Amino acid sequence: MSQKLNEPKLLVTGASGFLGWHLCQTAHDQGWITHGTYHQHPTTMAGITLHQVDLTNYEDQKEAIAHIQPDAVIHTAAQARPNQCEVEPELAHRINVDASLNLAGLCSDQAIPFVFISTNQVFDGTQAPYREDDPVSPINKYGEQKIAAEQGVLQRHPAALLCRMALMFGVAPTAPSFLQGFLHHLADGEPLKLFIDEFRTPLSGTDAAQGILLALGQIQGCLHLGGAERLSRYEFGRILTSVMGLDESCLTICRQADVSMAAARAADLTMDSSRAKALGYEPTDVKTALITLDL
Ligand SMILES: NC(=O)c1ccc[n+]([C@@H]2O[C@H](COP(=O)([O-])OP(=O)(O)OC[C@H]3O[C@@H](n4cnc5c(N)ncnc54)[C@H](OP(=O)(O)O)[C@@H]3O)[C@@H](O)[C@H]2O)c1
Repeated sequence: MSQKLNEPKLLVTGASGFLGWHLCQTAHDQGWITHGTYHQHPTTMAGITLHQVDLTNYEDQKEAIAHIQPDAVIHTAAQARPNQCEVEPELAHRINVDASLNLAGLCSDQAIPFVFISTNQVFDGTQAPYREDDPVSPINKYGEQKIAAEQGVLQRHPAALLCRMALMFGVAPTAPSFLQGFLHHLADGEPLKLFIDEFRTPLSGTDAAQGILLALGQIQGCLHLGGAERLSRYEFGRILTSVMGLDESCLTICRQADVSMAAARAADLTMDSSRAKALGYEPTDVKTALITLDL
């Protein structure tokens, strides 16, 4: 079918990732002609045009933008695992920082609106809840790289939107969220050990995608997109088991200090999403979102 005139064209990088998949689905449902990129995980999605692009290769980026000619770009592609960023920081820097700055520059040159996806891990977790104008305070390489990218993106593309996302969960046809790890443990009958001293504002992938698309074209600069409630991982687990009709005895309490990981973990990354809410952003509570997933 030929493309209708005047239908806007969106490019989502990292379409094979967790957030990218949700963005492609939601944008398509909202009437965007949607294109997505993948790198190592070939992906197909009904109604979406997918392209294989190594975003760390500037020539490949240029070719993709010239070929697709998007009306807007949402850049989700990243090394999004903090432990991996800590272990191989140079490799992560190439996608998290260098590729993001190059893409922002290309979009700026062609006056294409650009959204950079960042994280609440730009904060150290000691001063929550966090607003957009709070000073950043990273405690791991992932947070440092996201801050370097935020700053570089705004230098190259002053009209860019930076969306700092909370911890996300949802279905995972292409890539998992933390929820899939929980579900695997429960399915295997293993006790699920969850932190009682690590707090987040968990956000469904669908709400995340809707929030980003709501803000696209409306505002510039930094935007916090958190979920409706502040919950510990353990509290999230309690809601999950209740929704699944499981006994809470399959959950075990643990603390951050009990677990050693390559990347330091922030205690409380609760986000204040007031700026987004003023635009009409209304994230669903975790229980309702989990019921909707029909696990
Ligand atoms: N997940 C969360 O809870 C969370 C929370 C806060 C912020 N964020 C941010 O949200 C964004 C999306 O996270 P996510 O969890 O959806 O990530 P993800 O599932 O790990 O997906 C990462 C995506 O990046 C792509 N990618 C990696 N290296 C690439 C390269 N060299 N060239 C092209 N594409 C490349 C991957 O492609 P292939 O798989 O095809 O190689 C994949 O599509 C990231 O910017 C992350 O920092 C995520």
